[in-house]
Amino acid sequence: METLVTGGTGRLGRRLVGPLEAAGHRVRVMSRRGAGPGGVRGDLATGFDLREALARAELVVHAASDPRGDPWQVDVAGTRRLVEAVDRDRLRHLVFVSIVGVDRIPYGYYRAKFAAEQVLLASGLPVTLLRITQFHDFVDMLLEQARRGPVLPVPMSWRVQPVDVGEAASYVVEVAGRAPSRDVVEFGGPEELTAAELARAWVAAREPGTRVVATPLPGRLSTAFRDGAALPLRGDRGRRTYAEHLRG
Ligand SMILES: NC(=O)c1ccc[n+]([C@@H]2O[C@H](COP(=O)([O-])OP(=O)(O)OC[C@H]3O[C@@H](n4cnc5c(N)ncnc54)[C@H](OP(=O)(O)O)[C@@H]3O)[C@@H](O)[C@H]2O)c1
Repeated sequence: METLVTGGTGRLGRRLVGPLEAAGHRVRVMSRRGAGPGGVRGDLATGFDLREALARAELVVHAASDPRGDPWQVDVAGTRRLVEAVDRDRLRHLVFVSIVGVDRIPYGYYRAKFAAEQVLLASGLPVTLLRITQFHDFVDMLLEQARRGPVLPVPMSWRVQPVDVGEAASYVVEVAGRAPSRDVVEFGGPEELTAAELARAWVAAREPGTRVVATPLPGRLSTAFRDGAALPLRGDRGRRTYAEHLRG
């Protein structure tokens, strides 16, 4: 199938190309610069070059996102632009990469992801909304950013179930090969851990001597993470643990 990966230059997107090609797809990777072999230009924030990028697509894996910039412009309005630009007669499946808990966690970026899901459901296109938990290397990045010299503060009792990004990419390809569910599918890592457990494992592997300090955080966001709103309720699980990721 002629396949377009939006966000194909990102953390997940980079890992999608190989498995998609191995499954027989002809893959083009959309990004704002359109660089590299198989790269095409397309900007969800402005709509520039979107129609050309999507012209031949039978499968779209929509993994582009802008969590640190303006997710309402890129993720929500951008998904609306993508829906308008896609060739409805050619498209057989659009897999949208979302996050477990976007419907339950009161966080601005997650609200935008949930709104993008609703845009796709309302579009009438053959979609699957694939919600995945946090990637292991995303967790590494957050912990590195949170470290303050010899101290690593983490929110107390937050529960997460992170997943290997390579396993997540393989699962995206598996879902892309199924019929569109027109509904939510979930995928998470093999084990539930608290933020403090993750932090202690990370410190032991990467920054020995750093002290992990779990601090109670007030507010509805914190309550949601403590109540397990970021944990998958159903669906398949990856096998690689966070400890294995750190050893690797
Ligand atoms: N990170 C996690 O732990 C995690 C967990 C579950 C689900 N997800 C979801 O998985 C998807 C991929 O996440 P990620 O961490 O791999 O993302 P990422 O590394 O931040 O990559 C974001 C991608 O979006 C593209 N992009 C940003 N703005 C764009 C625009 N205006 N037009 C076109 N493309 C644009 C970027 O391309 P250029 O900059 O090259 O243009 C890049 O390829 C996201 O939808 C995210 O919500 C992430």
